[in-house]
Amino acid sequence: LIITADYEQMSRYVSDYIIDKINSHNSTSPFVLGLPTGSSPIGVYKNLVKAVDKGLVSFKNVVTFNMDEYVGLPEDHPESYHSFMARNLFDHIDCPAENIHILNGNAADLDNECHRYEETIASYGGIDLFLGGIGSDGHIAFNEPFSSLSSRTRMKTLTADTRIANSRFFGGDPDLVPECALTVGVQTVMDAREVVILCNGHSKSRALQAAVEGPVTQEWTISALQMHRNGMIVCDEAATIDL
Ligand code: GLP
Repeated sequence: LIITADYEQMSRYVSDYIIDKINSHNSTSPFVLGLPTGSSPIGVYKNLVKAVDKGLVSFKNVVTFNMDEYVGLPEDHPESYHSFMARNLFDHIDCPAENIHILNGNAADLDNECHRYEETIASYGGIDLFLGGIGSDGHIAFNEPFSSLSSRTRMKTLTADTRIANSRFFGGDPDLVPECALTVGVQTVMDAREVVILCNGHSKSRALQAAVEGPVTQEWTISALQMHRNGMIVCDEAATIDL
């Protein structure tokens, strides 16, 4: 657990960490990076864009897999995770389009889409570093409370809490937030060789406490990180207030 002073320092710590991992990676195979959406990673993405602009890092040999995507939301909707990633990262860096993977929440066969996603991850030899955030109920990706800790990529129904939390991106109306999402499983994240989780703000303090001090339980899916050999949470001070 790395406690930083504020959002800016948390973002700086993690972007520097990712840049270092990419730059020190053996270039005979791509560096495989798992990525989240949400407000937590925006500062990291801004720093990564600046680093690419300054020539401090390149994504030409990086392959990415996003954690999740809403079901049934058009890809070009401003709040789809496809749009979010283009706007905040991919439109501004040198990552080849064919290296970018995001679940298709409009696929005709959603089960097959999830299965295909796991196979594609495996075809690259797994994920080197999975970056993630946490919901205030401790969910990782869209693995809502009581998701199996051995889950893999699949469709999940979003909880009322998550739809209320994410309604801020949909004009404040939880009914406009899609009911379901495709998401990598808890096990998909835990299979990564390294997991780095961002956690900022007081609204995440209960989740952080459960993640760090509580038992490993499917009630707080982030708690699975305790079993990972190489898992790190980087938080700000505000998120530690209940600790
Ligand atoms: C959504 C995403 C998660 C993210 C969470 C927290 O539920 N599926 O991946 O971690 O929101 O979002 P935020 O960073 O905006 O607090």
